[in-house]
Amino acid sequence: MKPVLGIESSCDETSVAVLEIDNGKPQLLAHQIASQLEYHMPFGGVVPEVATRQHMRHLDPMVASVLGQAGVELNDLGLIAATRGPGLASSLMIGYTYALGLGAGSGVPVTGINHIEGHLFSPFLSAERHPVYPHLALIVSGGHTMLVHVKAPWSYEIIGKTRDDAAGEAFDKVAKLLGMEYPGGPEVEKRATAGKAERFNFPRSMLHSGDYAFSFSGLKTAVRYTLEKLPGRLTEHDRADVCAGFQQAVIDVLCGKSQKALEEFDLKLLTVSGGVSCNQTLVAALQKMCEEVGVEFLPSNPKFSTDNAAMITYAAALRQQDGVLISEQEDIDPNLSL
Ligand code: KG4
Ligand code: ZN
Repeated sequence: MKPVLGIESSCDETSVAVLEIDNGKPQLLAHQIASQLEYHMPFGGVVPEVATRQHMRHLDPMVASVLGQAGVELNDLGLIAATRGPGLASSLMIGYTYALGLGAGSGVPVTGINHIEGHLFSPFLSAERHPVYPHLALIVSGGHTMLVHVKAPWSYEIIGKTRDDAAGEAFDKVAKLLGMEYPGGPEVEKRATAGKAERFNFPRSMLHSGDYAFSFSGLKTAVRYTLEKLPGRLTEHDRADVCAGFQQAVIDVLCGKSQKALEEFDLKLLTVSGGVSCNQTLVAALQKMCEEVGVEFLPSNPKFSTDNAAMITYAAALRQQDGVLISEQEDIDPNLSL
């Protein structure tokens, strides 16, 4: 198969990759990510206008550099892919329009890829192996928290998702309550290692709801109330204990619901992907649970867990291989569902 060029620009990372599938295995020929973190940090979150400007600045030189690194000319490509949703409209528009321009100028076909589908395949990209069907995918990022029953190629059933905040969003909000910088996930995990998870008994929201829905906004509120009730100034010990207690509450819910779904649908493989799967305490807990129930566990490599173009390019290459490409006529969709 000819190499595929992929572009990810759905939020605050500009990323470009070149990938080909060789003997059924993904081969990443080049991959770059330009993080915009330093530009958004002062605002405590992603500012769409800032993101748009940074994507415009980075995209063109990154595409040239990645093609050079891969030793591939534009005309050698079999496909150009870009994320078409979900995400920030203006950010998606920059990447997708750029891809359409490249395609128009070179005659290479263009396709749009669902960002969530990119996350869903990232564990297989990490393991350099072809996706296995059926399986259960836990996708936990700053924008999404869902359990997906991947029944067969391109056949998904979202069996549960969050009713309010995404897991990563909860990490970010709790970090903010503790006066820590955006994004909060990595910082909360770091602090939690020195904390006692048992000190605060935060709620395991919806753990026994009987379905696969998640809710993390109550947990965030419980953290806020706990902080308000603590006497005196917040010590480093308090911070660490809150981080550990909060993190454990999120992990218990994610593990509990994943286990229930594995058992109910009799699935033999669990994957985890998205930014929150960088959390090694979560990964270890899921690994342990899978060992206990006798199921294979495949986490995404942290380098493919947060937003990146490699996962988008892999999803596009798989779609091309199976002849199920999305037409370039399909516009971007900020609310695109899986
Ligand atoms: O997948 P991603 O890069 O973007 C979205 O598609 O949303 O995920 C970003 C999210 C942020 O909320 C960030 O705080 C969280 O992933 N995150 C973590 C960790 N590293 C990143 N959450 C918990 N523990 C981490 N180590
Ligand atoms: Zn993402």
